[in-house]
Amino acid sequence: MIFDGKVALITGGAQGIGRTIGERLHKNGAQLAIVDINADAAKATAAELSASGARCVGYACNVAQSAEVDAMVDAVLKDFGKLDILINNAGITRDGLLVRMTDEAWNAVISINLTGAFYVLRAVARPMMKARSGAIVNIASVVALIGNPGQANYCAAKAGLIGLTKSAARELASRGVRVNAVAPGYIETAMTAKLNEEQRKAMLSTVPLGRAGTTQDVAGVVSFLASEEASYLTGQVISICGGMAMA
Ligand code: NAI
Repeated sequence: MIFDGKVALITGGAQGIGRTIGERLHKNGAQLAIVDINADAAKATAAELSASGARCVGYACNVAQSAEVDAMVDAVLKDFGKLDILINNAGITRDGLLVRMTDEAWNAVISINLTGAFYVLRAVARPMMKARSGAIVNIASVVALIGNPGQANYCAAKAGLIGLTKSAARELASRGVRVNAVAPGYIETAMTAKLNEEQRKAMLSTVPLGRAGTTQDVAGVVSFLASEEASYLTGQVISICGGMAMA
């Protein structure tokens, strides 16, 4: 139980990749703060997991609203007394070719995927620095490294998240807080279920390992980064993409 006694906060934790990461940490002993804009789903996921192990609590929060984020982090600290792990996972897509991309589609993706991650990271940094320990994992995307037509907003937000990861890693290292990112490729979730068959085939043709990734594929690497096994890693970006990008 490598996460025994640890408290992990996961944004966008009600479903998809965030939920599987939560399940993985919880299976290994972590208590969870499951944060999601979908309040009912966050609470249902927390209740379901709590039934089989360490305590989990669901919190309703839109990560794009800084006051909501600050209040949510205060509530988590009050409920659990500390915070050891942050998984910055909440994200959306609003795809469109860039010449047709509306201000609204651009701003929505930047404000949730990048600014939201910053708000949560900023709010947890102080208590983690005070505790002189913490592990933060930001969920970026392989398209931040290689680009993707139709996803200018998403690629820009995720590339920004990688820059945020590296700056935060340098700022927080001396206080014992590690900050890393993962860059998943094509992972089967509700987000990618929106792609049509042609887009799916085109995407898969770029994957050397020849299959879509699963949420478990992501959770394994995130769990490693959040654990003491990764105690000498900070500011790193690990691609989980079946070889779509090779650094
Ligand atoms: P998903 O759509 O299944 O889940 C996203 C979760 O985030 C949902 O529970 C949703 O309610 C929550 N959420 C959305 N906006 C929010 C907000 N403003 N505040 C709080 N919670 C919010 O998506 P999926 O596929 O599980 O993605 C999770 C993360 O992984 C995202 O950051 C996504 O960009 C990233 N990712 C996904 C890939 C994929 O192929 N599915 C590939 C690379 C990265």
